[in-house]
Amino acid sequence: MADSADFQAQSASGAHGTGASSYENNSNGVMLAQALRGAASRGLDRLDAQILLLHALGRPAHERAWLLAHDTDPLPEGAAATFAALCQRRAAGEPVAYLLGEKEFHGLPLTVDARVLVPRPDTETLVDWALQCLKDVAAPAVLDLGTGSGAIALALQQARPDAQVDAVDASADALAVARANAERLGLPVRFRQADWLDGAGTARPDGYALIATNPPYIAEGDPHLAALRHEPAGALVSGPDGLRDIRRIVADAPAHLAHGGWLLLEHGHDQASAVRALLADRGFTEVQSRDDLAGIARCSGGVWRTVK
Ligand SMILES: C[S@@+](CC[C@H](N)C(=O)[O-])C[C@H]1O[C@@H](n2cnc3c(N)ncnc32)[C@H](O)[C@@H]1O
Repeated sequence: MADSADFQAQSASGAHGTGASSYENNSNGVMLAQALRGAASRGLDRLDAQILLLHALGRPAHERAWLLAHDTDPLPEGAAATFAALCQRRAAGEPVAYLLGEKEFHGLPLTVDARVLVPRPDTETLVDWALQCLKDVAAPAVLDLGTGSGAIALALQQARPDAQVDAVDASADALAVARANAERLGLPVRFRQADWLDGAGTARPDGYALIATNPPYIAEGDPHLAALRHEPAGALVSGPDGLRDIRRIVADAPAHLAHGGWLLLEHGHDQASAVRALLADRGFTEVQSRDDLAGIARCSGGVWRTVK
């Protein structure tokens, strides 16, 4: 991997055979288009490079059209150094969201860093399903297990201001990120540090109307983990088959659900039938799955009914 000085020098000289000389401006500095071509020649995805360049220029990520309209503008020296450093980190596999310090989830701008999993668009499926389940429940008590950045809890609280939303994580680092997001967004979610449902017994004595969770679900040794090495291992890995945490949550959730309460879980692309079987074996009814944006069953859940 070249260092950032090398990256800047090569970008500025129009190296890599990119035809960058046609982009030279009057002052012989680096033009925006030239900087993007330099990044592409380093293997960066075009969209990532555009977003990182906008960030280096202090402009929002949605202004890609502005970049196209200004491709012969000179790249200021300070921004060039920032862009070079961001490109290096991206080339080393850091998620764009960590480099920007922000990720949008369900319309909410969340601050994220390496203490938390980057919220994924697929998890919005779980939030939408939860909102459907809650649509006829007034002032529902809701619990988000393994809240990370606070994504699910905050999205539910934003969509349902009347809900009482609790959120749990085992990681004090993750909770610090989640609490800061809640405070910045003015959303009154209650956070606490706990090992899944241990300690949740007294939080809502009548039980939760819905428990939602996106727990770790990748098997130890799964080759996909290499691409996720910058995200916290504690947010990803769950025993030899990826189901250790899901088994525990399914086993313990009924003691914390109201009569008719829902348990909704996100899981891996090949785990839907196993998770539905766990739910049915535990005594949940209306057990079903929901597809993610790619049409793959990635969330499963069921209703807990009991005579109290
Ligand atoms: C896959 S991440 C989900 C983060 C967030 N809910 C989201 O969807 O972006 C799983 C989260 O579960 C937390 N976690 C892992 N083991 C836990 C445990 N035993 N008890 C509570 N939380 C746990 C991790 O710290 C991590 O924040």
